[in-house]
Amino acid sequence: MSFLDRKETKPAPPQHIAIIMDGNGRWAKKRGLPRTAGHSAGAESFRRIANYCRKIGVKYLTVYAFSTENWKRSAEEVSGIMKLLGAYLKEALRDMEKNHVRFCFFGDLSRLSPELQKLCLDAQSRSSEYHEVQVNFCLNYGGRDEIVRGIRRFAADVAVGKRQPEEITEALFDTYLDSAGVPDPELVIRPSGEMRTSNFLPWQTVYSEFVYMNVLWPDFSSKDLDAAIEEYHRRNRRFGGA
Ligand code: FPP
Repeated sequence: MSFLDRKETKPAPPQHIAIIMDGNGRWAKKRGLPRTAGHSAGAESFRRIANYCRKIGVKYLTVYAFSTENWKRSAEEVSGIMKLLGAYLKEALRDMEKNHVRFCFFGDLSRLSPELQKLCLDAQSRSSEYHEVQVNFCLNYGGRDEIVRGIRRFAADVAVGKRQPEEITEALFDTYLDSAGVPDPELVIRPSGEMRTSNFLPWQTVYSEFVYMNVLWPDFSSKDLDAAIEEYHRRNRRFGGA
């Protein structure tokens, strides 16, 4: 098979890629800039990678933008990240017809400002008809918190007689999570050299392939994404089988 043929038969990318956008602070520190400048560069990186994912046919992109633990950061840094998210969502609402991106939000949005909550809900409802690519923003998201909120919803259904406790199965519980209806990610990428999952999608990633990379998120390029996808294709996925 010639090199060209090989290029043509390049395997399809995973349908769902999840990314922990890590390393913004270190990127800024290396340049003597405030941490918020790192997050701005991180937001740019997200724009590039989301576009690239759409181009190569990734169907779902889930990104960890703000965790339930990130409130421990300084008020200045938290408000900087919230401002960036607000600006991004305003831009997305403006360009909605052009980009055909569907937006979803995982996490407990109730702790966000009313203005940001409204932007999230508007983006979600105004993009619900688009199917080219779905971006799931994890905002005030914690995997354990998502599971606890799912249990609360199920318990509330039991309390009103809509469900019986013994009905619960893995498949049914899935429908009580923020990620209901979204297939589990095949590939999770964490740049920045850290090797942990940090409360990111614990239920959904039990059989995901994890690729840890030594590049800071603001420097993460389409070539890095290609490399992660190639690494994913080299893995032998057995799902517990022989
Ligand atoms: C982790 O890097 C990053 C965050 C906690 C925030 C991620 C937010 C963005 C990329 C901006 C969001 C905006 C859009 C539009 C997606 P870190 O600060 O923990 O980096 P460090 O480990 O080097 O300190």
